[in-house]
Amino acid sequence: MELTSAPLHNAQVSWSGLLLTVFLLTCWNSPTTAKVTVEAVPPHVAEGQNVLLLVHNLPAEVRAFYWYKGETVVDSNEIARFLISSSTNKTGPAYSGREMIYPNGSLLFQNVTQNDTGVYMLNMIMENFDYESASVQFRVHPPLPKPNITTNNSNPMEGDDSVALMCEPKTQNTTYLWRINGQSLSEDDRLKQSEGNRTLTLLSVLRTDIGPYVCQTRNQVSTSQSDPFTLNITYGPDAPIISPSNIYFHSRTNLSLSCHTDSNPPAQYSWFVNGDLQSSSQELFIPNINTNNSGSYTCLVYNSVTGLNKNTIKNITVLEPVTLPFIQVINTTFKELDSVFMTCYSNNTGISISWLFNGQSLRITDRMKLSQNNSTLTIDPVRREDSGDYQCEVSNPVSSKKSDPIQLNIIPDLTQGTAVLSGGAIASIVVGAVAGMTLIAVLAYFLYFRKTGRRTDQRDLTEHKSSASNHNLGPSDNSPTKVDEVAYSVLDFNAQQPKPPTSASPSPRVTEEVYSEVKKK
Ligand SMILES: *[C@@H]1O[C@H](CO)[C@@H](O)[C@H](O)[C@H]1NC(C)=O
Ligand SMILES: *[C@@H]1O[C@H](CO)[C@@H](O)[C@H](O)[C@H]1NC(C)=O
Ligand SMILES: *[C@@H]1O[C@H](CO)[C@@H](O)[C@H](O)[C@H]1NC(C)=O
Ligand SMILES: *[C@@H]1O[C@H](CO)[C@@H](O)[C@H](O)[C@H]1NC(C)=O
Ligand SMILES: *[C@@H]1O[C@H](CO)[C@@H](O)[C@H](O)[C@H]1NC(C)=O
Ligand SMILES: *[C@@H]1O[C@H](CO)[C@@H](O)[C@H](O)[C@H]1NC(C)=O
Ligand SMILES: *[C@@H]1O[C@H](CO)[C@@H](O)[C@H](O)[C@H]1NC(C)=O
Ligand SMILES: *[C@@H]1O[C@H](CO)[C@@H](O)[C@H](O)[C@H]1NC(C)=O
Ligand SMILES: *[C@@H]1O[C@H](CO)[C@@H](O)[C@H](O)[C@H]1NC(C)=O
Ligand SMILES: *[C@@H]1O[C@H](CO)[C@@H](O)[C@H](O)[C@H]1NC(C)=O
Ligand SMILES: *[C@@H]1O[C@H](CO)[C@@H](O)[C@H](O)[C@H]1NC(C)=O
Ligand SMILES: *[C@@H]1O[C@H](CO)[C@@H](O)[C@H](O)[C@H]1NC(C)=O
Repeated sequence: MELTSAPLHNAQVSWSGLLLTVFLLTCWNSPTTAKVTVEAVPPHVAEGQNVLLLVHNLPAEVRAFYWYKGETVVDSNEIARFLISSSTNKTGPAYSGREMIYPNGSLLFQNVTQNDTGVYMLNMIMENFDYESASVQFRVHPPLPKPNITTNNSNPMEGDDSVALMCEPKTQNTTYLWRINGQSLSEDDRLKQSEGNRTLTLLSVLRTDIGPYVCQTRNQVSTSQSDPFTLNITYGPDAPIISPSNIYFHSRTNLSLSCHTDSNPPAQYSWFVNGDLQSSSQELFIPNINTNNSGSYTCLVYNSVTGLNKNTIKNITVLEPVTLPFIQVINTTFKELDSVFMTCYSNNTGISISWLFNGQSLRITDRMKLSQNNSTLTIDPVRREDSGDYQCEVSNPVSSKKSDPIQLNIIPDLTQGTAVLSGGAIASIVVGAVAGMTLIAVLAYFLYFRKTGRRTDQRDLTEHKSSASNHNLGPSDNSPTKVDEVAYSVLDFNAQQPKPPTSASPSPRVTEEVYSEVKKK
């Protein structure tokens, strides 16, 4: 539409008015006069809503204005006019009953229909009979129908099939948007959109593609969305899983097995025991089993729609609980440094054996050895700290039992390394008893002892000495002065007993030995 040509089509415009217009346009075209414009608020409107054709910069010298439907100013298209002088309105042939004309030039459309879409002309007559025109247009959009999802394959099979989902109906100027599980579409090679996104194709369906799917439609003025749509995807069965997972069962209990697989439609289940059909249900129950119920248990699952079947085999062993084991040992009292052999006897097979010491799992030291199946425990050499309760525990996968405890008593070897020193020990006691005795007296006594005692048992003495050297008492050579040193350390201890030891641990250790030796006497 060209605004300048509009008056030429208007039958009511006189030639004089036209000439005047031309004159005024050429002579009075003031740059300060802002141009009249019309705005549709809103430019896109949903059917049934209102739209206001808003006039901006209406000139003050307007005498009357006319609203026309369409791009041409013809009488038959007049909707209404407004006369400023009388402040009155008048409707025209194109008036629908839903329009209102305002003194400021604006036109309100109420309850618009799609037929209202189009161009509207405002024509103004000035006080000097000049004309001015402006045009505007708006679009009425139909309310979107509620969309509806249809599919070309209502029972797709996992893996094989592709499925197309169509959003119906097809409407113009509508954008289509898909949502899966409430999420907008993510980048996925298996998804394809076509027909302006109205069709969603799943190229190779998976069981997880059930949805729900929702199609949303949108135009400038409204949105609408379908009900959720879910796919019934046929799949499975998967390899079944038998529970519980253990393969060993206690005899004289009830065997209750359950089989599960994922399948759509749900699978049919059957149980076979050693190849014979036992049950046609998901659960298998055998009361009060015994070892004869050991064997292979098969769960078979079948999907009647895919025609596929799968099975899982479980080899079950029914075991008797183990009987009480017992420990055999030649004696329960041993001398220190002896070898001890303990044997755990059980009349069960397929068992494992472990050893307990004072109720705790036995810590195997480098002095201990276990036979290949743990049935024999050897302690060599045995020490006093090995005294205590020994038990063996036998177990199979369904039970375990502990033997009655055997109490081992490890006693010190009295025949070793005590004879000579015991003389010294006695001397120590004597020294301790007569605490006020002077060192000289002690030395005198000691020297006397040395003269007589050295001859008594040289062999035993050296044996003791080598044991003492293990306690870091000093050099372990066999020089004769050695004897003095050992004896002296004993002496020294007794003299200094109330004080804390100044040198490191050796002295107290030695005194320990000496004390126990004294006790034995
Ligand atoms: C004309 O004016 C009357 C009175 O003010 C009003 O009721 C009516 O709606 C107006 N008509 C139009 C088309 O604006
Ligand atoms: C004209 O009048 C109408 C109704 O009173 C009002 O809604 C509109 O905003 C007015 N237009 C201008 C440009 O002020
Ligand atoms: C709007 O117009 C439709 C017909 O076009 C009519 O059925 C409806 O009642 C009208 N609504 C109002 C609020 O005038
Ligand atoms: C729209 O216009 C067409 C033809 O011009 C007419 O048949 C139809 O009834 C009109 N619709 C409305 C809602 O006015
Ligand atoms: C969806 O569309 C189909 C085909 O157009 C129709 O048969 C079906 O009734 C529609 N469903 C709904 C809920 O509108
Ligand atoms: C869709 O939009 C185009 C251009 O935007 C327009 O020509 C056409 O009439 C519109 N169709 C409908 C049904 O609104
Ligand atoms: C189709 O959807 C994609 C996103 O999923 C979007 O990027 C694209 O613009 C849409 N196309 C149309 C025609 O709506
Ligand atoms: C899904 O399809 C199967 C046939 O493949 C049918 O047996 C089953 O009833 C369907 N499930 C639903 C929820 O429609
Ligand atoms: C079950 O036992 C059979 C024969 O004894 C064997 O071939 C099969 O591998 C076993 N299966 C399982 C799962 O242990
Ligand atoms: C066990 O050993 C102790 C000390 O060596 C000994 O006195 C006892 O006779 C032994 N008993 C048996 C049954 O051998
Ligand atoms: C195993 O020990 C149990 C109980 O001590 C006994 O009843 C059974 O006869 C024994 N079996 C064998 C094979 O020794
Ligand atoms: C032997 O005992 C040790 C633990 O002391 C254990 O780790 C091992 O499995 C046992 N062996 C057998 C055959 O029972």
